[in-house]
Amino acid sequence: MTRALSEVSRLGALSEAAVALAGVGIESARQDAEWLLASVLGLERFALYLDPGRALSPGETGRYRTLVARRTARVPLQYLLGFEEFHGLRLAVTPDVLIPRPETEGLVEWALATLRDQPAAIIADIGTGCGAIACALARGLPELRVLAVERSLPALAVASLNVRNLGLSRRVTLLAGDLLEVFGPRGLDLVIANPPYIPSAVVAALPPEVSGFEPRQAL
Ligand SMILES: C[S@@+](CC[C@H](N)C(=O)[O-])C[C@H]1O[C@@H](n2cnc3c(N)ncnc32)[C@H](O)[C@@H]1O
Repeated sequence: MTRALSEVSRLGALSEAAVALAGVGIESARQDAEWLLASVLGLERFALYLDPGRALSPGETGRYRTLVARRTARVPLQYLLGFEEFHGLRLAVTPDVLIPRPETEGLVEWALATLRDQPAAIIADIGTGCGAIACALARGLPELRVLAVERSLPALAVASLNVRNLGLSRRVTLLAGDLLEVFGPRGLDLVIANPPYIPSAVVAALPPEVSGFEPRQAL
């Protein structure tokens, strides 16, 4: 069978995208190209290689090239995919929230170890963002109750989506507020936070994905 001249195979599309992404200095160019194509086709990444010569439809090609163009503009991969993996959970992320970092999983591990003898504790997660720490701890300790505070209402909406998607609504309560002000004299067993800590003067020197796209109040 002959193939229309404009048709692009999965492998061809990946190669084209990887070259474009590498050309703007993205180190993970090939993986990013795979993630984006897998997202457009609704497949796992490995499945792209099960039928590498299969042609993309014109619609798939258009959607893929749009995503690749946005990634070459350094929009973070996670915002394009709409999720990030954190401590074994797939969390929704949007430009309203900081993308959870792998280093923060260390904080979750510390808290899980600290709460080992207090599994039914009541704790607060201050500046919950997309709810990463709160959800990971509630998942790890089935009797834990988490009060998750966030100042940004758009971020709270994302956290709310994650809490519901993970079936944690009974044990993770989301609260709009500033630091610990919402608690008054209430007793908490532990307060955990991954607060903003990057000096404003340094932000412009960060990778463009961070300085140009992540919420300034989260940095
Ligand atoms: C570094 S991000 C951490 C997000 C999430 N906990 C994580 O680890 O991925 C800091 C978060 O704190 C929130 N935040 C900043 N100042 C705050 C304040 N005074 N009270 C409550 N939340 C605040 C920001 O909106 C942002 O979502």
